[in-house]
Amino acid sequence: MNFNVTPSRVGDGDVTVPGDKSISHRALMLGSIAQGRSDVSGFLAGEDCLCTLHAMRSMGVVIEQSAATQISIQGVGLHGLAAPAAALDLGNSGTAIRLMTGLLSGQGFDSVLTGDDSLSGRPMGRIIKPLAQMGARIESNDGKPPLRVFSVNGLQGVDYNMPVASAQVKSSVLLAGLYATGTTSVTEPAITRDHTERMLRAMGADVRTNGHQISIAGGQQLSACHVEVPADLSSAAFVILAALLSERADILVTNVGINPTRTGVIDILQAMGADIVLENSRTLGEEPVADIRVRSSRLRGGTVDPALVSLAIDEFPVLFVAAAAAEGETVFSGIGELRVKESDRIAAMAAGMRELGISVDESSDGAVVHGGGFTGGTVESFGDHRVAMSLALAGTIASDPVVVKDVDAVDTSFPGFADCMAAIGADIRCEGGVA
Ligand code: S3P
Repeated sequence: MNFNVTPSRVGDGDVTVPGDKSISHRALMLGSIAQGRSDVSGFLAGEDCLCTLHAMRSMGVVIEQSAATQISIQGVGLHGLAAPAAALDLGNSGTAIRLMTGLLSGQGFDSVLTGDDSLSGRPMGRIIKPLAQMGARIESNDGKPPLRVFSVNGLQGVDYNMPVASAQVKSSVLLAGLYATGTTSVTEPAITRDHTERMLRAMGADVRTNGHQISIAGGQQLSACHVEVPADLSSAAFVILAALLSERADILVTNVGINPTRTGVIDILQAMGADIVLENSRTLGEEPVADIRVRSSRLRGGTVDPALVSLAIDEFPVLFVAAAAAEGETVFSGIGELRVKESDRIAAMAAGMRELGISVDESSDGAVVHGGGFTGGTVESFGDHRVAMSLALAGTIASDPVVVKDVDAVDTSFPGFADCMAAIGADIRCEGGVA
């Protein structure tokens, strides 16, 4: 399937985007090993989270989906999971495979975790190393999936100094820590999203955060809880940018998660001159949420603060488009992690934007984007959902139509993206399917 994008203008109105992907994955995994029934509303029924849902079901957890975004999980307790009959296919999802490997390291059965071509090329040494230090036995294909997790005679707590800032690695180790003797601590080089810690606490676990160090004692039983998943700021980012770049737009994106470990994108855009205001700030369970008011703005380039990278890690494709539309040049540094996401996002965005007339200089862990106007053209998504949606946005402000190829992966995180954008006036049409 492709996106056919025609230059178009976003207007006024309220919009909602689907539920948070990170929180939806965690609700499924933690709800499954809690005691009692966890009801989850606002669940993201995207392909990534559905892979996690099917994996938990295949380990004997009863999960009912009464509506697309409404699920209930009958938790089986810390030691209640059953051996899956077949390999767990985690599709495109790095979060699913990394968190679940931590969870499965402490089980009394063997398991195999696989994924699609993109996932099969992503680095897993970053979780295998700390989990092995805890006593886990994991075989991989030279540090990549498929992963084979063997049952071992108990895990031990560790004090792990994480070399990369990764919430997936941190969460994987903390989940294994639930099954370890003693205390497991992870120290992160920069603050990363803390949804795992928040949900563990909501389920009654004692999780301690001391600066960059997070600790959990093993053996704690979790209690089921009600999870209200806020809208995903990473999806809202596409609507936010569409409104910023349109003439006379005034859009309210409602009920969006604004966890401070996620809001780097707002800080970066505001530093570029964006008119973004948080309204009606409140909390939904353990997570802060707000409605986000966005008005058309003239953006200017500059140097993006590298301290914000881990707080905006999934928003760089969309920030590249913001930089292309800004006046002057924008310098990104410390973003080498983007090279090991669903695609090499620095290379993928640079290729797409160059095709549309923008000059981009790349380095191993950075990029300089020179502001200018997008032309029309045909670009590749490299099978990456966020690259596909970001280049579609570029098309809405281009001089001529843009075709983004191979956009099926959008369903992993933002089912209904094209309809949502059309509702606010952006002319993005799916050719050969629905997204
Ligand atoms: C995620 C963490 C991030 C992010 C991913 C979701 C999570 O990955 O890119 O989309 O849910 O923990 P890293 O923590 O590996 O950077």
